[in-house]
This record gives sequence, C-alpha cells and structure tokens, in this order.
Amino acid sequence: MFIWWLVQLSRTATTDSIEINEHHYTVETLQQTSILLTKNPEYYTIWNFRRLILQHQLSLPGTDSSEQSASDQIVSMIKDDLQFLLPLLRSYPKCYWIWNYRLWLLGEASRLLPLSTAHGFWQEELALVNKMLSFDDRNFHGWGYRRFVVEKLEILAPTESMTQKELDYTTKMIRSQLSNFSAWHNRTKLIQTLLDERGASDDERKNKLDDELELIHQALIDPYDQSLWFYHQNLMCTFDPALSAQAIAPNLTDSERLDYIRREKEAIEDMLEGAESCKWIYLGLMNCTLLQTKIERSLSRNAKQDVTRWLHELIKLDPKRRGRWLDFEESFNAWQ
Ligand SMILES: *[C@@H]1O[C@H](CO)[C@@H](O)[C@H](O)[C@H]1NC(C)=O
Ligand SMILES: *[C@@H]1O[C@H](CO)[C@@H](O)[C@H](O)[C@H]1NC(C)=O
Ligand SMILES: *[C@@H]1O[C@H](CO)[C@@H](O)[C@H](O)[C@H]1NC(C)=O
Ligand SMILES: *[C@@H]1O[C@H](CO)[C@@H](O)[C@H](O)[C@H]1NC(C)=O
Repeated sequence: MFIWWLVQLSRTATTDSIEINEHHYTVETLQQTSILLTKNPEYYTIWNFRRLILQHQLSLPGTDSSEQSASDQIVSMIKDDLQFLLPLLRSYPKCYWIWNYRLWLLGEASRLLPLSTAHGFWQEELALVNKMLSFDDRNFHGWGYRRFVVEKLEILAPTESMTQKELDYTTKMIRSQLSNFSAWHNRTKLIQTLLDERGASDDERKNKLDDELELIHQALIDPYDQSLWFYHQNLMCTFDPALSAQAIAPNLTDSERLDYIRREKEAIEDMLEGAESCKWIYLGLMNCTLLQTKIERSLSRNAKQDVTRWLHELIKLDPKRRGRWLDFEESFNAWQ
C-alpha cells in the first residue's frame, strides 16, 4: 500500500510539494524506498524522500548519551547507505540520481563527523570511483564526480605539518642559492623531526636518505663550497655505527652501509675531474675510506695507499693545516 503511494508520489509530486509526516521517517519506510529504487533508480522523488528519512534519523540523538556512540551511529548509518548504493551504481553507472545521492551522503559525513573520519569516507570514495572508472573510462558522470571528490579531499586534508612547510622552505632556499649554511643546517634537524612525527618506517627513512644524497650530489657540482660538505658529512654519519642512532636511517645493516659508502666514494671520485685542487674532495674520499675500514675492521693495502696519497694532496693543498696532516699521517702509518 505504502509503495503504491510512493509510486504515485514519484509520478506526480515535485520535491517542493512533498509534505510527509515525520511519522513516516522510519526504518520501514527507508526499506521501502530501497525496494523501489532497486527496481528503478530513476525515481528521483523517491531519492528525495529517502534523503528526508535519513536526515531525520541522522538527527536523532544517540540512544546512548555519550558523544562517541552518537558519532558511531552516524558512521554506521552512512556506511550502510553507501553500501546500499553500490550494487545500484554497478547496474546503473550512468544514473545521475545515484551519484547525486551519494554526494549528499558524503556531505552529511563532512557536516556531522570529526574531520579525520569524514576524510576517511572521501578517501574511500576516491578509491571507489577510480576503480569504477578503470572499468568504464567513458562515464561522464564518473569523471565529474571524481573531480568533485578530489576537491573535497583537498579541502578536508589534515593541514600539512609545520615541519614539512619549514623543510620545503629550506629546499626553496637551497634551490635559489646552494650555499646557504643555515638552510642546510636546519634541514638536518627538520628531516629528523618530520620522520619522527610520521613514525616513519625503516624503508621510508632509507628513501629519505636516498633523496637527500641525490640532492647533495646535485649541489656538489660546486665542490669548493664547504657548507655542502658539512651536510654531506652529516648524511655520512648514517653509515657510522657509532653515530647512526641519531641519523636519518638508524637501522641499516653493515653490508648496506658498505654499499652506500662505496657509491659515495665513486660519486666523490667523479667530482675530482676539473677540481683537482679541491681539498674537500680528498677529505671526503679519506673519510669514506676510514669509515669503510671502521666497519670492516681491517685496513686493506689499497685503502692504505689511497689514504696516504690523499693525505699528501691535503698537505699540499692545505698548508695552514700541514702540521695536523703530518701528525695524522704518522699515526696512520702506525695502524697496520
Ligand atoms: C639563507 O636562508 C635564509 C633564510 O633562513 C635567508 O634569510 C638568507 O638570505 C639565505 N642566504 C642566502 C645567501 O641566500
Ligand atoms: C633556520 O632556523 C632558524 C631558527 O629556527 C630560522 O630563523 C631560519 O629562518 C631557518 N632558515 C631556513 C633557511 O630555514
Ligand atoms: C630500528 O631498530 C630498533 C631496534 O631494533 C627498533 O626498535 C625500531 O623500531 C627500528 N626502526 C626505527 C625506524 O627506528
Ligand atoms: C671528514 O671527517 C671529519 C671528522 O668526522 C669531519 O670533521 C669533516 O667535515 C669530514 N670532511 C668531509 C669533507 O667530509
């Protein structure tokens, strides 16, 4: 009987003229609209009616007085209704009313739920619409809908952390002027804070380390700039077992460390070309080799020859510290 009435309504009434008593906003009538809409989702009046019923139910105070459970109830009502729409969307992907109704539901989620919960709903929606579009990429409604979801997500996105903004600022400063000691210096701290804030995994930390090594290699096109070597040295601490606990990626294995050091050595050797009089390069190479020795706990004959050769370059290029390098050479010769 009621269904007959709804069908009549859908044929004759416009949204404005619907005046339905609140007594009809029940779980039962909701189910009846489900039956009708499953048969024919083009009954837009029924969609409007469903909207009124749900709106009413969402506004009912939770049976439990605690706020948590009220919002849980809203979450489950919205979830159920989104779920109801899924098979309809699959059968009628081009029916405007279904998409329209879904948007309204998600809007209710934004309006009634905490930001992070609402954001979750929209994120799942994006995944869903992406999936649907992968089956049918000519669905016009689908694309329009997707654009809308993306916009909403941008608005709802949890605000970017201040640390990320400051880090971006140092990147900008570095890009405009490589030699900015303060920017490189801040970067070291900011990256640590950011990784901690995010509870970054070992893999994420390793990726960050790779990014930073790439950035500093690009910058070291000018190897005469000491502030760059300062940052490079900072990254190299990651490979020093005695210092790595405070570094970007604290949990590398020794063999990973040795791989990294080998690659760094190659990168630094490449810098020598055209910059043979740059003392930082010899220092960098020496540091790499000494670190390698420390991890391997043995000094190969090649390594010994290399270090001696680089020390001699340093003695030539850095006369002010000549005494220091000679002292170092003496103690180094005693190592064996
Ligand atoms: C380095 O960055 C700071 C911002 O902290 C900026 O004020 C300064 O002008 C920059 N220095 C150079 C040489 O670009
Ligand atoms: C580095 O940090 C100091 C103090 O926090 C700040 O004043 C400066 O602007 C920062 N520089 C850069 C380049 O981020
Ligand atoms: C590194 O290893 C330590 C000790 O095994 C562990 O507690 C920690 O979760 C690991 N990962 C990071 C990122 O520190
Ligand atoms: C070499 O290592 C020393 C000692 O850790 C450090 O002070 C120096 O900055 C490093 N030099 C380079 C070029 O990496």
